[in-house]
Amino acid sequence: MSSAKVALVSGANQGIGLETARQLAALGYEVFVGARKAQEGQAAAASIGAKAHYVHLDLGDPASFRGAAALVEEKFGHLDALVNNAGIGPDAGMKPSEAPIDLIRQTFETNVLGLVELTQTMLPLVRKSEAGRIVNVSSVLGSLSLNCDFAAELGSWRSFGYNGSKAAVNMFTVTLAFELKDTAIKVNSAHPGWVKTQLGGEEAPLGVEEGAKTSVQLATLPPDGPTGGYFHDGNGLAW
Ligand SMILES: NC(=O)c1ccc[n+]([C@@H]2O[C@H](COP(=O)([O-])OP(=O)(O)OC[C@H]3O[C@@H](n4cnc5c(N)ncnc54)[C@H](OP(=O)(O)O)[C@@H]3O)[C@@H](O)[C@H]2O)c1
Repeated sequence: MSSAKVALVSGANQGIGLETARQLAALGYEVFVGARKAQEGQAAAASIGAKAHYVHLDLGDPASFRGAAALVEEKFGHLDALVNNAGIGPDAGMKPSEAPIDLIRQTFETNVLGLVELTQTMLPLVRKSEAGRIVNVSSVLGSLSLNCDFAAELGSWRSFGYNGSKAAVNMFTVTLAFELKDTAIKVNSAHPGWVKTQLGGEEAPLGVEEGAKTSVQLATLPPDGPTGGYFHDGNGLAW
């Protein structure tokens, strides 16, 4: 088995995922750049350099999870950091009472079920790491506490599909962290901040360098770092 540090980032062809892959490669990780579109994924990996390896990863296609696991196994034999970054928010700005059910279903399929099944598929490789880290990229919009605060300034970001999917991601974080509490693996949820990307939009105050910081911190936690937490830039968030 290789002694290299190895990471896999889903949705790494653009936005926060691409920058997370770039920062992990700069820290010396061999990084699998997960993307559903080959051309974009290959271009993203090439833009990072020799430490980046494109891997086909479509959150709607579990066969791609098995293919990615086989590739990681063959090249390195273990996975130190799984960053579950890919996500969508097609019901942004829509009222819970009006959002088309297909959009809500698609959101849960991608953000929750795809993320869970990808993690289940990769877990045997993470168990082979001496210090496995699983980062579930959530959002502060998945916080029940925040959504319960009717005075909170969330603008149009009070949709059920996106916010509900991120709350479910948070529940996956804590249930999996509990299951793995007696192992070296740490599982945490990340809120990147409001970041200028295709999803975050032009008005967002943060750039991707800032936006990737929390995922990178949680992917590289020291042995005494937390598990089962919900963080933005080192600070715990209310669930
Ligand atoms: N930007 C923010 O302000 C913000 C705030 C809080 C949380 N987040 C979270 O941060 C993560 C990254 O978002 P971002 O802002 O960087 O958004 P983005 O630029 O829109 O990137 C999203 C990434 O996810 C990929 N993706 C979507 N559906 C996929 C699928 N079915 N299979 C594989 N990949 C898929 C996209 O691939 P394609 O290019 O092929 O579509 C893209 O690479 C998301 O989980 C998001 O919820 C973002």
